[in-house]
Amino acid sequence: MTTNSITILMDNRAEPPFQAEHGFSLWIEYDGCHILFDTGQTNGFMENAARLGIDVTQADYIILSHGHYDHTGGLPHVLPLAKQAVVVCHPGVFVDRYSIREGETKYIGMPPESRRMLRELDEKRLRFVTMPTALSAKIFLTGYVPRKTDYEDTGGPFYLTPDGASPDPLDDDLTLWLSTDRGIILLAGCSHAGIINQCYFVRKQEKSEKFRILVGGYHLMNADEKRLNQTINALRELAPEQVVACHCTGEEATTRLQHELGAMMALGAVGRRFLI
Ligand SMILES: [Fe+2]
Ligand SMILES: [Fe+2]
Repeated sequence: MTTNSITILMDNRAEPPFQAEHGFSLWIEYDGCHILFDTGQTNGFMENAARLGIDVTQADYIILSHGHYDHTGGLPHVLPLAKQAVVVCHPGVFVDRYSIREGETKYIGMPPESRRMLRELDEKRLRFVTMPTALSAKIFLTGYVPRKTDYEDTGGPFYLTPDGASPDPLDDDLTLWLSTDRGIILLAGCSHAGIINQCYFVRKQEKSEKFRILVGGYHLMNADEKRLNQTINALRELAPEQVVACHCTGEEATTRLQHELGAMMALGAVGRRFLI
């Protein structure tokens, strides 16, 4: 039976019997669609899903929020089994990308096996999205999210080349949103476009001021004081009923958001389910 809901299948936070990893994955049932939003970095999201009684092979859509390994690495485990799923992503997911921390360069783009499978996928099952796109009458993807705020950035030392010469703008970062009677539900992977930019853009598309739930990684672990303060102020103004902090939000930033925003803030973890 389909229950309109959002379930966290993979997150940095989990309690037994679920497993955690630095990765993110959501299962969404809404408007007659089954959607897998990101695949974590291993098959862990599938093992968590099985424990939750969720059959991810029934996905109508597999959305890749962006090309980082911790969102695309699990793809080879599900794609051969989810035979009717259409993969939806920005064409920029394929580019090589790196992080450089304390002089150490790490490849953090889509793993080769995920890339190979996507390249070999029947073209009818691969849909590229660069601008606002409807997946159903109530389910939408942003495509590229314009960067408007002056206090948000991609959130990390991200580059397109291993020498760090070319910063990665993460233009492929997509946001999913659901239109509901009680307001907008916004689902983010890593919020490399900036969670406030994402909210402003979705609000403009939806022509509605009312946010119901935000769920995602907000990538605030490297945020400076200005960004944290401005983000908190903007969230107060946007006034969603609930903001669920997952994945790459960062422990310190999450504690700060909880302190400042009180009951609006909730912690994400594998297995948490939000009814729509
Ligand atoms: Fe991530
Ligand atoms: Fe990311």
